[in-house]
Amino acid sequence: MREKLQKIKEEAIRQIQDAADLGRLNDVRVAVLGKKGELTAVLKGMKDVAPTDRPAIGQLVNDTRESIEKMLEETKAKLEAAELEIKLKHEVIDVTLPAKKNKVGHRHPNTIALEEVERIFTGMGYEVVEGPEIEYDYYNFEALNIPANHPAKDEQDTFYINDKIVLRTQTSPVQVREMEKGKLPIRMIAPGRVFRSDEVDATHSPSFHQIEGLVIDRHITLADLKGTLAEFAKELFGADTKVKFRPHHFPFTEPSAEMDVTCFKCGGKGCRFCKDEGWIEILGCGMVHPRVLKMSGIDPETYTGFAFGIGLERIALLKYEIDDMRLLYENDQRFLNMF
Ligand code: DAH
Repeated sequence: MREKLQKIKEEAIRQIQDAADLGRLNDVRVAVLGKKGELTAVLKGMKDVAPTDRPAIGQLVNDTRESIEKMLEETKAKLEAAELEIKLKHEVIDVTLPAKKNKVGHRHPNTIALEEVERIFTGMGYEVVEGPEIEYDYYNFEALNIPANHPAKDEQDTFYINDKIVLRTQTSPVQVREMEKGKLPIRMIAPGRVFRSDEVDATHSPSFHQIEGLVIDRHITLADLKGTLAEFAKELFGADTKVKFRPHHFPFTEPSAEMDVTCFKCGGKGCRFCKDEGWIEILGCGMVHPRVLKMSGIDPETYTGFAFGIGLERIALLKYEIDDMRLLYENDQRFLNMF
């Protein structure tokens, strides 16, 4: 037994000294001390040793184990130090090399324009709300006083999911959803994507964005509408901007108007940008139709309000002097990097 242990020890020491790397060293550990290792086998054979010899042999096995373990540890430390040394030698860092540049994106011109509009209206105490892009026909048309035979309901203008559900053609349904909540007064804007069955060209896209606005309170008049939107135009296009309201028709407002701003390029004299008109149309607006209020559960005798709808792309195109709407959707980095 003693000889056997001595042999195991010598053999282990030889192998440890020969081990060229950590992997090999671990193999030796497993072969000697592992579950099926040589020394473990000796330990299992202890039951065959005469009981009187057991303490001495046991002590010897433990000593052998300890000295092998110690040697394994020391060699491991040495090999690790050597490996680190080699690694450090190979990984020389040249601090003078130029760093890799991260390509950092930035906000899309639509987003920049939207944030500007949101900043102006939240500054006036408006709340920013959202509604669903897939909308009930009721909210998109009926509750907005748009009758069944209205041209906006034509299949040419609207994507129908079925006869009750459509891709919203305007953000105006969000007005109805807010009014139905029954919390008054209301001062909100609702930006979002809208859909129309349009062919793509320089000024049309089947999917674009609007920003809806709605104010409902006691004693709201056309003067509030004019004052608010004139202030908005000044903030957005510059303090010298003047506004002009042209009578128009929208089913959900009465009276209704379209608002023009003085061309911010020529100041109203007329130029190529405003097609010599001096004015640029930027939104639709009006006083909320009493029937629309009533349908959403608001008493038109007590409450009045105004609403407006802004085309976001139109604002972005004007503000950044982009002449083709398609550029906004192509995601060409050469274009996007200009903003
Ligand atoms: N929803 C209208 C459109 O898509 C825009 C609009 C006009 C919204 C007048 C309004 C409004 O809230 O008062 O053409």
